[in-house]
Amino acid sequence: MSTPQNDKRALRNTLGRFATGVTIVTAIDPDGHPMGLTVNSFSAVSLDPALVLWCLDNNSNNLAAFKKATHHAINILAADQQDLSNRFATWPADRFAGLDWQAGVGGAPVFPGCCATFELAITTAYEAGDHTIFIGRIENFEQAERDPLLFFAGQYRSIAALG
Ligand SMILES: Cc1cc2nc3c(=O)[nH]c(=O)nc-3n(C[C@H](O)[C@H](O)[C@H](O)COP(=O)(O)O)c2cc1C
Repeated sequence: MSTPQNDKRALRNTLGRFATGVTIVTAIDPDGHPMGLTVNSFSAVSLDPALVLWCLDNNSNNLAAFKKATHHAINILAADQQDLSNRFATWPADRFAGLDWQAGVGGAPVFPGCCATFELAITTAYEAGDHTIFIGRIENFEQAERDPLLFFAGQYRSIAALG
C-alpha cells in the first residue's frame, strides 16, 4: 500500500484512474480580457439550488483573476475539441487568438461546438491544500448531442474508440 507522502508520482497516477470529461473554464479578467484553462476537476454538487464546482491549482497564472471574477463558464468539450484542450493546457500566450467565442453571463467566454456549457455565478471559493475550490450557481446551461472528449490515465480517450 502506498501513502501520499512516500510516492507522489503513484498518487497522481492513481488519481488518474478516475475517468473524466474535459472542460475549459473561462472568465473575464479585471482588464476585460478573456482567460481560461483546461480543467477536469469539474463536478456536479447540488440540483436545488443548482451548484457545481471546479478546482484551480494555486500556481495558476489566473488565480487572482478567477477569484475576482463574479462569473465563470464551464465548456464541456466534445470529442473533436482535443486541440482546444491542448491549447488551454499549454499555450502561455493569448489562448483565445483566432478563436470563435461568445460572452456568456458576466462576460465569461462560451465556445461553440461543445457537448454542454454552464454559465455560473460564483458563490464561494474555498482554500483546499494547494488548490482553490470554486462553487458556482448555474444561471444558464445548454447541451448538444455530441460525443464527449474523455481523459483517463493521462491520455485522451473517446467513446467511439470504446465501441
Ligand atoms: C486533461 C487536463 C485536465 C486538467 N485539469 C486541471 C484542473 O482541474 N485544475 C487545474 O488547475 N489545472 C488543470 N489542468 C492543468 C492546466 O490546464 C494547465 O496547467 C494550464 O497551463 C494552467 O494555465 P494557467 O496557469 O494559465 O491557469 C489540466 C490539464 C489537462 C490536460
